[in-house]
Amino acid sequence: MKKQIDFLIQGVKNIKEVGALTRSGPALCKKMISPIPTDKDVVVVELGAGDGVITKHLLNRISPKSKVISIELLEDMYKKLAQIEDQRLSAIHGTIDNLDQILEEHNIENFDHLVSAVPFMIMDNEYVVSFLSKYKNRINKGGSFTQMHYGFKRKFYENIFGNAKAHYVAANVPPALVVESIIV
Ligand SMILES: C[S@@+](CC[C@H](N)C(=O)[O-])C[C@H]1O[C@@H](n2cnc3c(N)ncnc32)[C@H](O)[C@@H]1O
Repeated sequence: MKKQIDFLIQGVKNIKEVGALTRSGPALCKKMISPIPTDKDVVVVELGAGDGVITKHLLNRISPKSKVISIELLEDMYKKLAQIEDQRLSAIHGTIDNLDQILEEHNIENFDHLVSAVPFMIMDNEYVVSFLSKYKNRINKGGSFTQMHYGFKRKFYENIFGNAKAHYVAANVPPALVVESIIV
């Protein structure tokens, strides 16, 4: 409950950045990471990690030699993310605008999965198209992109990735959509 209240305060204070008033519930977290295999070593990049609610599910799912780079813009959220103790996790306080630099600093050329909770729906469309068109080329074939949304935008992602499925997560409060694209 305390985590939900802290998130609500951050959401109210920074609605443009957070784009939500509730942190993701367990069903939404699980759907966001469902394309990621449990039996293969993978590199996952997570955008808009917040307090690390999806990150924790991710770390529970992936293999011992996998890696996660989780990026969060807001300091108060980042401080909670950074409290997660797991050697596979690099928690970054920063913006997705600096993703090139962040990947370079972690010696990552290509990665396997991109998990995003950044509120793309309320961001400039041209920026989002250009960002995703650029980074889809750095996701390995067979990898995936997942994005959570509170509105319907499947076609938008299909135009960028060539395929996109939308999953409705009714159990989340409020109900949410997860758009999933596979890199072919
Ligand atoms: C909807 S919240 C999701 C938080 C958490 N992952 C969850 O599922 O509950 C979106 C998060 O994206 C972060 N964010 C927004 N713009 C960002 C940016 N440009 N770079 C990094 N993080 C950003 C916000 O601060 C916020 O924590």
